[in-house]
Amino acid sequence: MVQPPSASVTQPRGLRGDYSRAAADYSVEQHWEDYSAEEHAVWAALYTRQLALLERYAAPEVLQGARSLGASATQIPRFERVNRVLAAATGWQMVAVPGLIPDQSFFEHLANRRFPVTVWIRRRDELDYLVEPDVFHDFFGHVPLLTNAVFARFMQAYGEAGPKAMAVPGGLRMLSRLYWYMVEFGLIRTALGLRAYGAGILSSKGETVYSVESREPQRLRFELTRVMRTDYRIDTFQRTYFVIDDFQELFAACYGTDFAPLYRRYAALAALAPDARLPEDVPLPAPT
Ligand SMILES: [Fe+2]
Repeated sequence: MVQPPSASVTQPRGLRGDYSRAAADYSVEQHWEDYSAEEHAVWAALYTRQLALLERYAAPEVLQGARSLGASATQIPRFERVNRVLAAATGWQMVAVPGLIPDQSFFEHLANRRFPVTVWIRRRDELDYLVEPDVFHDFFGHVPLLTNAVFARFMQAYGEAGPKAMAVPGGLRMLSRLYWYMVEFGLIRTALGLRAYGAGILSSKGETVYSVESREPQRLRFELTRVMRTDYRIDTFQRTYFVIDDFQELFAACYGTDFAPLYRRYAALAALAPDARLPEDVPLPAPT
C-alpha cells in the first residue's frame, strides 16, 4: 500500500489501537501524560514480576540492556528519554505506533534502526495473556537487546531482508519464521547455562520458566534453513525452541546468507511441523 506522506492510515480490522492519527509510516505521538494511574499500575505489576525472573532466566545481555535503559519500575517509560540511551548505545530509536503495522512499514523501520513500540498497555485482567503486542511486550521484550551492538545489527539486517522476501512467493512466510523463532522465542547457551532472550518468552511469566526448565519442548541447535522451514504455534507455548551460542552466530547466518535460493527451494514445499524432528537436528539435552 503506497500512500502520500501526509495521508493518515486506515484502521486495520480487528486491531485495538487508534490508527486515526498515525502518519503514513504508522508512527504516532506517545502522549505519555495521557496514561492513567491504573495504566501505570499495570506496568508496575508486569515490570516487577518479569524483572525478578530475568536474573534467573534471561541472557546476561538482556539484563544488562534492561538496566542500562533506566526504565521506571512504576511508570510506563517515556520513549524520548529511553531513546537518548538507545541512540548513544547503538544508534537505534523506538518509534511509537498504535499496534501491529503492515509488514512493509515494519521492515522499513527496522532497516533504518527504528523499532516500532505499541503505545497502549493491556488491562489488569490480561496480565498473563494478550493476543496483540502492547507497550509492555514491545518495550520490555524487545528494547533491552537493542542496546547490544551485534543483536541490533541483526535486527537491521532482518529489516533489510524484508522487501526481498516479499518479492518471492512464500518468501515472507519463511522470513517470518526466523523472526518468530529467533527474535520472539530464541534461547541462548551461556556460561551460566541455558537462558532466554526472545521477547515473546521474556514478556510471559509462564513461558519464561517453561522455555528454560520444562522437559516438554525440544531444544535444537540453531540452523537457519531448519528454522525457516518450520511452522510455529501461536496459541500455546512453543513445541520447539532453537538455541544459539551467541548473537554473532545469528547475525552471521542472516547477514552472510542469500535467502533467495532458500525461498526458491523450500517456499513451495510443505512446512515442517512445529514439533518435527529431523535426523540432522542437533538436540540439547533435556533439563534435569
Ligand atoms: Fe514481539
